[in-house]
Amino acid sequence: MTASPAGGDGKADLDLAVLLPELAEIGDDELRAGVEALWQRLWHLSSWTDVMDVPVASHIATPQVNHTRAVTRMALAMADIVSELHGVELRRDLLVAAALVQDACKMIEYEADEAGGTRRTEIGRKLGHAAYGAAVAIEVGLPLDVVNVILSHSPDASVPWGSVEARILVNADQADVAALGGDRFIRKMFQYR
Ligand SMILES: [Fe+2]
Repeated sequence: MTASPAGGDGKADLDLAVLLPELAEIGDDELRAGVEALWQRLWHLSSWTDVMDVPVASHIATPQVNHTRAVTRMALAMADIVSELHGVELRRDLLVAAALVQDACKMIEYEADEAGGTRRTEIGRKLGHAAYGAAVAIEVGLPLDVVNVILSHSPDASVPWGSVEARILVNADQADVAALGGDRFIRKMFQYR
């Protein structure tokens, strides 16, 4: 990956309103601006020329943008259900903002290879998308609860979930990866009877 300063790489900004219409679900203007700033910064730091080429993972070619949108909408549906049936009210702005940014750093974690596939970048191998994404999230001023979701959603970063929203999101994330056939959940069995 060749890192360039944001905006200095010759690429146009991403059209985020079209790419991620779920941004409109964020009520807080500052929070929405922070999510947009993170996406644009990572986009300009990345080597990709088409954001729809960025995969979920090296073994899942599905566009990461579509995965992000699916996780966001799943999380909102889960929030509606636990509100209706349990009276549990989740912070919707946090859910949407965190869902939209937690995997944005896949743009940095992966790059295209010469064979038409993808490979991990040096940052991807040595830090992973959670750690680097969290660092950029802090840089653009996103709240700590959002940064916590970025760090805690990945097994690559040993940070505990810091909110019920983080716990909901990690399950929405796994549900979508399972739908894509890439689930790597390891189940710990307890002998209880
Ligand atoms: Fe992730």
